[in-house]
Amino acid sequence: MSAGIRGFKRTHYCGEIQHAPVGSRITLTGWVQRRRDLGGLIFMDLRDRSGIAQAVCNPETHPQAHAVAHTIKSEYCIAIIGELEMRPETMRNPGMATGDFEVIVHEVKILNEAQTPPFVVEDGVEVTDTLRLKYRYLDLRRPGLQRNILLRHKAASSVRRYLDDHGFIDVETPVLTKSTPEGARDYLVPSRVFPGKCFALPQSPQLFKQLLMVAGFDRYYQIVKCFRDEDLRADRQPEFTQIDIEMSFIEMNDILEMTEEMIVELFTETIGVELPRPFARMSYDQAMDEYGTDRPDTRFGMQLKDLSDIVAESGFRVFTSTVSEGGVVKAIRIKGPNDFSRKDLDALSAVVADFGAKGVMWARLEEDGWKSSLTKFLSDEQRAAIEQRLDMAVGDLALIIADKRDVANASLSTLRLHLAQRLGLISENTYSALWVTEFPLLEWSDEAGRLVSVHHPFTAPSEEDLSLLETDPAKVKSQAYDMVINGYEVGGGSVRIHTRDIQQRVFKAIGLSEDEAKTKFGFLLEALQYGAPPHGGIAFGLDRLIMILTGASSIRDVIAFPKTQKAYCTMTDAPSAVDAAQLAQIGMKFLKEE
Ligand code: AMO
Repeated sequence: MSAGIRGFKRTHYCGEIQHAPVGSRITLTGWVQRRRDLGGLIFMDLRDRSGIAQAVCNPETHPQAHAVAHTIKSEYCIAIIGELEMRPETMRNPGMATGDFEVIVHEVKILNEAQTPPFVVEDGVEVTDTLRLKYRYLDLRRPGLQRNILLRHKAASSVRRYLDDHGFIDVETPVLTKSTPEGARDYLVPSRVFPGKCFALPQSPQLFKQLLMVAGFDRYYQIVKCFRDEDLRADRQPEFTQIDIEMSFIEMNDILEMTEEMIVELFTETIGVELPRPFARMSYDQAMDEYGTDRPDTRFGMQLKDLSDIVAESGFRVFTSTVSEGGVVKAIRIKGPNDFSRKDLDALSAVVADFGAKGVMWARLEEDGWKSSLTKFLSDEQRAAIEQRLDMAVGDLALIIADKRDVANASLSTLRLHLAQRLGLISENTYSALWVTEFPLLEWSDEAGRLVSVHHPFTAPSEEDLSLLETDPAKVKSQAYDMVINGYEVGGGSVRIHTRDIQQRVFKAIGLSEDEAKTKFGFLLEALQYGAPPHGGIAFGLDRLIMILTGASSIRDVIAFPKTQKAYCTMTDAPSAVDAAQLAQIGMKFLKEE
């Protein structure tokens, strides 16, 4: 007998048998999630991408099918023909879409056997990530991952439909290209034809989409892979997907409104959630002051408060010297009653250690006053002012950090998230979206030893700050914006510079000499001289959006074939060594090998 599908053409997906008439003859195909042999009857859970159906083999009525079923093991690929029946009343499973039904099997065909899989293909089983990724094709059979990938498809379709309906055209841009600075290291591809020279894989299609605007395409989009060699986190992959968008003859608000509506439709079409419009807008300065980060999670309060002015003149040297050296004393309040022990509070210092914070100080307001090692250093008035600023009532706790502004902000922002999770302040399935605007154009980088672009160097300075570009460049605000949902930066963009003169001034501000600017971006500078229209755009991180829509805790759970934390593909073993002849062809020799 052939193991082909002849005679067993599928009539229904496993997860949809409830739509077939009871008593009808149906054919299903899929993988055996589980087989239970009850001595007489054999039950099989048959799985495909739509869900699971229960199949029953009865030795009395269909002995041949039963005999075949006897040899079947987990993950065998099979086809069955049978009759759809209601399950006996007591056997129904309301937790399953097909839980009221079962298929009485008449015929079974084994399409392919399976070795015992390295892990049970079910959600919730304990498996290491390495094993999962090595056998990703088995991991992907799990219902949870199937749902994520199907939702990803639905999301991409929704976005395409929206953009198509609004006059955007999909244009492909090169993958073998020249480095565009988006702040990460490039993946390089050596050229055979030009020995010693490399292409860079695009960190984004930024310059090409701008050139498409110069070319007059007016509205562009692309769902496109981008490549960045950077340290990975739960929400970062070395190759990830952007919904990349650019528009001509617009102002910032046009882009925000257009794409906000796209995201609102995306949420409704994929998970049936209506995000309230318009999204809140918050300036970068406000986000940093109140949340300590430019991607605030606004699903809960616990904002940061600056106490510097209150404690600058106190008797506590840590406070006074921090403030006099230009640092800040900032705090968050945890509402009482809470059961933080002294040990718990001391342990919080470990949460912020990574940011270089020297420690977390605390004060608890009790019936008879403050309980804190700070009490003796602060006057009654100073304590009262702190209580008032933090809106403290009896039982509340204040957590205080005195440090450089960026250290205090990063530490308190992390503490805020850590505590909100621990205290259960974030309700599941809630979504809080906002725009963060008015970013600075440039920021100081210790690593580079100069000012660098906060977004990228093609971002337009805000018009009123243009004159500061040469005199006080760090003060210049930009026309950049980020969309933030639940504390994730899901998208970022800007109105662009569209004249050569301003582009050159910005290059100069980030320390690019005229010659360097010409070598790196001569083609852009030239293009800006040929009637480049005012334009701007944005790119959304598709993976991050899907992560939020599915509630996944890692971006890897929404990508079919992701890389490990070390940017490695465990399944194909990439990157891998190449043979010497191949290297010779491109004129390369490695100085260092693993
Ligand atoms: P940006 O660098 O902000 O902007 O990237 C846009 C969005 O892409 C997502 N993202 C990532 N997702 C997963 N893994 C990564 N390593 C990763 N890096 C970024 C984020 C981010 O908001 N060319 C500009 C866009 C523009 O100006 O139009 C750009 O790439 O969600």
